[in-house]
Parts: sequence; C-alpha cells; structure tokens
Amino acid sequence: MVFALQHYDTLAILLLVLALMPFEGNCSSQNHHRERRPLHKSLHFTLFQHATINRTGYVIVNGMKGEEGMSEKTIPFGTLYVFQDPLTAKANRSSKQRGTAEGTSITSGLDGLSSILVAKLTLRVKNHKGSISIVGGINNLDRSDYPVVGGTEDFLFVHGYVTSFPIDLKSPTVVYKNEFHLYWPPYPPLASLKN
Ligand SMILES: *[C@@H]1O[C@H](CO)[C@@H](O)[C@H](O)[C@H]1NC(C)=O
Ligand SMILES: *[C@@H]1O[C@H](CO)[C@@H](O)[C@H](O)[C@H]1NC(C)=O
Repeated sequence: MVFALQHYDTLAILLLVLALMPFEGNCSSQNHHRERRPLHKSLHFTLFQHATINRTGYVIVNGMKGEEGMSEKTIPFGTLYVFQDPLTAKANRSSKQRGTAEGTSITSGLDGLSSILVAKLTLRVKNHKGSISIVGGINNLDRSDYPVVGGTEDFLFVHGYVTSFPIDLKSPTVVYKNEFHLYWPPYPPLASLKN
C-alpha cells in the first residue's frame, strides 16, 4: 500500500511537470523573442556631406538674371543644381566614406533663399546597406529638415527625417552635418519618438 501510494505520487508529479513544460517553454521563448527584436526599430546616426562646386556639384541651368543686391546666401530663382557628394563618418574629408548623396536642387523662392531638393542617399552604416530617398525644402539661412519618403534593400519601408546644416562654409567645399532619424514599420506613436 505504501509503495503503491508513493508510486502514485511520483506519477502525479511527473504528469504535472509534463503538463507545465510546454507552456513554460512557450513563455520563455516569447520573452526571448521580444528581447532580441524590439517592436519599434529605429536607427539614428550622423554623416558629413562634402559639396565642392564645379567638382561634385554643378549649376546646370542658370536662374533668372537681374537680381542685383542679392547676398552670398542667395541663389537666383530657377537655378538648377545637380550634385554627387561623398558622405563621411567624421567632418574630416579623409575619414571613412559611408555613402554618397546624389540629387538636384532648384531655387524656388523668389527671394533666392529657398530651394526644393530631391536626393537619393546610398548608405553603408551600422550593418545596414541600401538607399533612402529624401524630398524637401532647403532653407539657406537655417537648418533644413528633409522627410525620408522611402528606401531600398535594408532600408525598405523606412520613414523619418534628415536634418542638415552647414558647419563649414569655406569655399569651394561646403561641409554639411546630416543627422539621420530612420524608423521601420510598425511605427511608434508620435509622442514616444525620441532623437
Ligand atoms: C564654377 O564654374 C563656373 C563656370 O565655369 C564659373 O562661372 C564659376 O565661377 C565657378 N565657381 C567656382 C566657385 O569656382
Ligand atoms: C584629417 O585626417 C587626416 C588623415 O587622418 C589628417 O592628416 C588631418 O590632419 C585631418 N585634418 C583635420 C583638420 O583634422
């Protein structure tokens, strides 16, 4: 009788353990999954763009004439400019190249202070390779925020924005500091977005 009872207990414990095991297994693998892949993926980094007039960028079409009195910050209305600039990890041109910016801008402000920009940025950063496309307005006197309208390869479906401002206006090369804020779907609620 005693032996039989002991036997029964062992069986009950074994059944209990077997019943719990798959459930526990599921639970821990889900937790694991969540740790490794956060729900909202984003990437934040900075690259420096080196724009050299008549070497990496050219005025293809001259803007409207007769704009006397314009300052050096203004570009004649209608000017079409095309560029292919290197993007480097640091402000120093000799630092590691992380990408290329190909694009065009057209001066669209009658005062010559603003332009429309369309560009494709080819990137190799933080184990990600591919391109993003940006479209937006350039403000000659302030920083410019360009919405990211999409991407390719590792940047497929990204949205976000690129903030750009000149840090070195020494002619003939102008250096821009570009800050990238990229987000993959599903997108986080706006209130939780942090730089
Ligand atoms: C670039 O080239 C154009 C046409 O040759 C010239 O008029 C302009 O002065 C050059 N700009 C600079 C900054 O060298
Ligand atoms: C840029 O980098 C090069 C090579 O690493 C170095 O010789 C040069 O001094 C650097 N320039 C500046 C302004 O730091």
